[in-house]
This record gives sequence, C-alpha cells and structure tokens, in this order.
Amino acid sequence: EKGGFEHFMLKEIYEQPSAITDTYRGRLLVDEGVIRMAGIDDNLERFTNAKRIIIVACGTSWHAGLVAEYIFEDLARIPVEVEYASEFRYRNPVITSEDVVIAISQSGETADTMAAIKLAKEKGAFVFGVCNVVGSSISRETHAGAYTHAGPEIGVASTKAFTTQITVLTLIALKLAKAKGTISKTDFHMHLSELETIPQKIEVALLSNDHIKEVADKYKEARNCLYLGRGYNFPVALEGALKLKEISYIHAEGYPAAEMKHGPIALIDEDMPVVVIATRKGHYEKVVSNIQEIKSRQGKIIGIVTEGDTSVRDLADYVIEVPDTIESLTPLLTTIPLQLLSYHIAVMLGKNVDQPRNLAKSVTVE
Ligand code: M6R
Repeated sequence: EKGGFEHFMLKEIYEQPSAITDTYRGRLLVDEGVIRMAGIDDNLERFTNAKRIIIVACGTSWHAGLVAEYIFEDLARIPVEVEYASEFRYRNPVITSEDVVIAISQSGETADTMAAIKLAKEKGAFVFGVCNVVGSSISRETHAGAYTHAGPEIGVASTKAFTTQITVLTLIALKLAKAKGTISKTDFHMHLSELETIPQKIEVALLSNDHIKEVADKYKEARNCLYLGRGYNFPVALEGALKLKEISYIHAEGYPAAEMKHGPIALIDEDMPVVVIATRKGHYEKVVSNIQEIKSRQGKIIGIVTEGDTSVRDLADYVIEVPDTIESLTPLLTTIPLQLLSYHIAVMLGKNVDQPRNLAKSVTVE
C-alpha cells in the first residue's frame, strides 16, 4: 500500500506530479485557453462582485491560503484576508453578504474550520470549499466548492494536499482575473502554459533527493532552524518550518526574510541552520543581501535556488536547485525540497514520520 516507499509521507511527496495532473484534469484546457471549474462558473458573479475574499483554514491549509492571498491580489485584484479559523470564529468578525469566504481543508473535517464556515453562512457570506476528501463534512456544508483530487493523504504531515490546494487556488485566481479583465490575454495564456509544465518540473525537483539527504545528515542534530522567504515564498517558509517541527520535533520558525533584522537575527550563530528560499524571481537581490547578513554572523545557509544560480551558491553552505518558473508558481517547486529535507531529518532521527506524537490527521475537536 506504500507503493514500495518506506513511508506514506515519502510516497505522497513523490505523488505530487500525478496529483497535480489530477487536479488539472478537465479544468486546465491550455489549447482552448480556458479554465473550467463548475463551482466557480455557476457562481461567477458572487466572486466577481465580491468586495473581498476571506480565506479560513488551519495549519498547512492556512499556509496554502497565504500563498493564495498573493496570487488573488496580484492577478484578480480582489482584497484578500487570510484567517486562522480558530481565531476567526471567536472574534466577532465583520462579514457581510458581499464577502466570499473560501474554506480550505484537506480532510474536510477540521472542527475550527467547520465552525468558521457556519458563522460566515449565518452572516450571509457565500462560502466556497477547497477540500480533498470527497463528501466530507466541509464539502457538504459549503455553498459550492472545488476538490483538490490529490487522492488519499495518509501521512499526518500534509504534502500533496498543500501543493494541490495551491494549484486549485491558482486556477480560481486566474479564472477570476480573466472574468474581471485584470489580466492580459498574453499573460493569461502564459500562466496556463506554465501551469502545464509544473508536474514535470516537480519531477526534476525530486531528483535532488540524494543531495537533500546529505544536507539532512549535516543538520539533523540542530536544535533550532530558521526558514526565510519573501513574497510568494514567505508562506512556503512557514510551511517548511511546520514540516520540520511536526515530524522531527526540531524547533523551527518561518519568517519573511526582511523581518529577520527585527528580532530573529539575534538568534543567528554558527549552530543555526537557516533555510533561505532564494529563487531568481521577485525579491531575489534583497534575499541575497539577507543571506549576506546571515553569513556575516556565521549562520549556516541552505539556499533553495533556481537552476544555474551562482550568487547564492557563492555564499551558501549548501544549495538545492529547483527548475525555473514564473514567480507566482515558484511555491509549487520550492516546497518540494523542504518536504524532503524534513522527511530525511525525521527518518535519520528515528521518529515516527507518518504518525508524529501528539498529532492527529484530522483535528475534529477544538
Ligand atoms: O484537514 P485540514 O486541511 O483542515 O487540516 C488542517 C491542519 O490540521 C493540517 O494542515 C495540519 O497542520 C497538518 N498536520 C500539517 O502537516
């Protein structure tokens, strides 16, 4: 049942190219220049007239929501707020019938997310679900939705659910951008053809597995670890840190790279590995100068870089390459090495990777 893999988590990491292909099936029609999603098409005006989108979720799904915030605002020009479902439900939020709420949940059973949905419905918002488990409670409670179609995710640490959530949310953002006229025809088509190449590029990213194992071996004894990223890759830094915490029990924190000098830089010394997502897009130069700041304090640098990068390689202790793509799609690639890095560290430390202590796959109590 693990398909020859030692753990479900590893199997699920390797399933990402086919899982994303399944997410695209019947939806991403590159030749026709169309994205087809019934849940959006049937409710298009709710979305295009929305004053704002509020995304509610927990854990890794909340991180996918943060990536979506960048892409929705960037492409569709709709204001987005991303909320922890557990906070949203208890803080008397301002919600009206002009809001669209998107609830993201792999299991479709998370208690806090469910409660947030019920509250949003009571206040008259239109609620859209992005779930993986077909027929789950959240998929039934929402007004409409889109499944991720990632297939069953058994490992407690979410992997393919995350990348397929980002995929679905990207498709939605593009669809809305097209409907609202906030994206040019050329840009829309460029995004579609880039999306199509992602599964194959993930295959390439997975080829770094042996190299990532070496990096894992080098840093497995670390007590703390920092993850930094900017823009679209700031949420990926948060997700990388969560993956390491939950399966290896090493304390890790994710930060927007520029926030480092507002506090965390004080932690940096020769015992602190810092994973920096520094793809050659967006704020690349700024991230490189953040790397210089870490280096001058003797921090150990693991750079996640675009194929062929030399500037970061000159500064970093290790670099892990991912293929080039457009900025908005980089999270789908930069996430892969971070998943593998935490997986290998946890295995080397002898931890129960698929069922980490104290954690449940779906959190059905608050
Ligand atoms: O099923 P959900 O997506 O609603 O679950 C939300 C979180 O409990 C979940 O993502 C959790 O953070 C994972 N263990 C992270 O790997």
